Amino acid sequence: MIITGAARGIGQAYAVAVANEGANVVAVDINDCEETARMVIAAGTEGLPVHVDVSNEYEVKDMVRETIKRFGRIDCLVNNAAMFDGLTYQPIEDVDLEQWDRLFQVNVKGTFICARAVVPQMRTQGYGKIVNMSSSTVLAGVTGFPHYVASKGAVFALTRSLSKELGPYGIRVNTIAPGRTDSGALVTMNPNSPPRTGRAARSIDRDEIPEDLTGTLVYLASADSDFVTGQMISVNGGDMLY
Ligand code: NAI
Repeated sequence: MIITGAARGIGQAYAVAVANEGANVVAVDINDCEETARMVIAAGTEGLPVHVDVSNEYEVKDMVRETIKRFGRIDCLVNNAAMFDGLTYQPIEDVDLEQWDRLFQVNVKGTFICARAVVPQMRTQGYGKIVNMSSSTVLAGVTGFPHYVASKGAVFALTRSLSKELGPYGIRVNTIAPGRTDSGALVTMNPNSPPRTGRAARSIDRDEIPEDLTGTLVYLASADSDFVTGQMISVNGGDMLY
């Protein structure tokens, strides 16, 4: 299984969870994935750390070639990498357009580049799973966060589009939409913004953690979900209902 954005946070939790289920993991990130690979190996499978920028098609193609050489097949790609950590909620006038472009380059184009790169191998296998990471912000709308929310909306739309095109080849494409998750990533208020109000209460009244998401990934990566494609599964403790 290839997991992007696997150096930390949700991606790292995904890597450990699927390793516990017996999957080998190619851990992809612009940050060091050695720790994740060690955790995968400790769980009893193979972990391959790879330094790749998902928005760079050449690096992604090399990574896919290396994966096939090492493991012979690609059962699942998890498009988890995203620009998220370090973002600031901004009033509309202050949203930086260069940051907007980079966000779309990583969150949307990066997702597409990785998906396109694994398709030939999955098509040859006649089977494969692609799991993309959207966000419950797409359902809620969030003040001061238009670039991120729009990018995650695009990821959901891309999921639907790819599921139609790739279904005939046995490739299933789905999206997980987490709620606000304590992953270590820090997104802050612009000090000049008014406080956000009106946040819906969760039905399950506690913070969301990365391990709340792993069961859904394991399901979407497994044969148990073979008749599920083009879907978005919200995992948010009943915050946004969809
Ligand atoms: P994170 O910021 O901790 O992890 C993202 C990872 O992606 C980092 O390791 C980062 O180095 C990597 N990355 C960033 N740009 C990259 C690039 N160009 N190429 C390769 N790797 C790159 O974030 P977190 O919280 O673990 O989020 C994981 C996913 O879940 C993201 O897609 C995020 O948008 C999504 N999500 C997170 C939520 C949250 O509240 N934490 C809520 C909804 C969705």
